[in-house]
Amino acid sequence: MPTLLRIDASAQLEERSLTRHLTGLFTQNFLAQAPETKVITRDVGLNPIPAIDHKFIHAAFTPPEEREPWMSERLALSDELVDEVIAADIVVLGAPMYNYGMPTALKGWIDHIARIGRTFSFDLARGDTPIEPILSGKRLVVLSSRGEFGFAPGGVRAHLNALDPALAACAHYFGVAQADIDTIAIEYQEFKDARHEASVEAAETRTRALAAKLAGAAAEAA
Ligand SMILES: Cc1cc2nc3c(=O)[nH]c(=O)nc-3n(C[C@H](O)[C@H](O)[C@H](O)COP(=O)(O)O)c2cc1C
Repeated sequence: MPTLLRIDASAQLEERSLTRHLTGLFTQNFLAQAPETKVITRDVGLNPIPAIDHKFIHAAFTPPEEREPWMSERLALSDELVDEVIAADIVVLGAPMYNYGMPTALKGWIDHIARIGRTFSFDLARGDTPIEPILSGKRLVVLSSRGEFGFAPGGVRAHLNALDPALAACAHYFGVAQADIDTIAIEYQEFKDARHEASVEAAETRTRALAAKLAGAAAEAA
């Protein structure tokens, strides 16, 4: 039975959010083909994760056997979020572009997922590459939306895209190899013209096809 972890990060409500539309479409099409799928949903856009602070960092970098009760309490939400990632075969991220990067809510989620001893290990004996991911074998589906356009590689605003490279850089915390990331993005949202309509339609078609493909692969692997 595959497990899908759906993360929504838009600050907009359901009816106004294009990324929620795409994560919903993906989930619905995945379930249509693999109805036994377990879906975990986490809406960090509507229920923001608190920013990490010095107490969080102190607690996270204290070995578990040395932690005081307040430290375990401070890490409880992070542990829950990491458990959700560990349980997932596919992480579906609704990732709007805010100020050329990811929304604070999504960054907050990632800051809680990047945990020493849980999602990565750190050892200077490994020389210049001390960080090693702990999780592996998962897929990441990034479903995004942008007000402007041309953010894909080779596009007129590719150099301004601080969202997709940041998600790719952090993918190892979710156990995802670079080759296992799929990104689908709606563009032109702010123009509200025919280009936007075409972009929505293309993104919907690609989202449905990707959900069917990944659900088919999950069913075969079962
Ligand atoms: C706070 C904020 C910042 C934004 N910054 C950008 C931006 O830097 N570049 C861009 O192309 N669109 C930007 N947009 C437009 C959003 O990417 C677009 O509205 C997208 O559809 C948001 O996703 P959602 O519909 O799921 O909320 C921004 C929107 C908001 C609300």
